Amino acid sequence: MKIKKTEFIKSSTSIKECPTKGLPEFVFYGRSNVGKSSLINMITNNQKLSKISSKPGKTQLINHFLINGNFYLVDLPGYGWAKTSKENREKWDVMCKNFLIQSKKLALLFLLIDVRLKPQKIDLENINYLGKNGVPINLIFTKCDKVGKEELKKNINLFNSELLNSWKNSPDYFISSSVKKIGIDSILGQINKTIISINNV
Ligand code: GTP
Ligand code: MG
Repeated sequence: MKIKKTEFIKSSTSIKECPTKGLPEFVFYGRSNVGKSSLINMITNNQKLSKISSKPGKTQLINHFLINGNFYLVDLPGYGWAKTSKENREKWDVMCKNFLIQSKKLALLFLLIDVRLKPQKIDLENINYLGKNGVPINLIFTKCDKVGKEELKKNINLFNSELLNSWKNSPDYFISSSVKKIGIDSILGQINKTIISINNV
């Protein structure tokens, strides 16, 4: 899929404020600082589209970006260790979960996992909670430039085997690096495939 046009549409504080064009949404979620905004900029080849920071807690609202006039990429605040008050973290958590569970147009949630880390309880809890609530999930293991081949394989296997404690099959997954531009074609390919399957229903 070629990205021809990227437009920031709006930032929303709740699902009621979100754009209602009826187009499919591909959403990026995960721990603060895992690289959600960087990934959106990488796959759209637009470094200015979503704001990035080394300080966890940069993205604070539900951000809709319209791609090729055809579908949305949605950037969400992270969970876990955003540098903000406990109150704000809880507010973002409720806002994101309500959006993810209630959106009628959510085509696919990409849940991002930092591949440098051993399986984190908070990631597993969120995946299990969202999965049980019917949200379609794929995983993206981010920052693969920071680990060697062996560690990459080991951490992905560890994470997937943890998931198999509660899932029948582990979800489809992708590997990315926004620094080395790894993962663009496979992630865009998955978006394309999902759009085609929605249109064929
Ligand atoms: P919040 O909006 O705070 O939840 O963070 P986020 O998940 O959107 O992360 P963001 O894209 O802002 O990136 C956080 C930091 O990680 C920045 O310093 C990025 O430059 C860095 N980063 C993102 N992706 C990668 C990657 O693939 N490799 C490396 N080495 N660093 C990355
Ligand atoms: Mg962000």
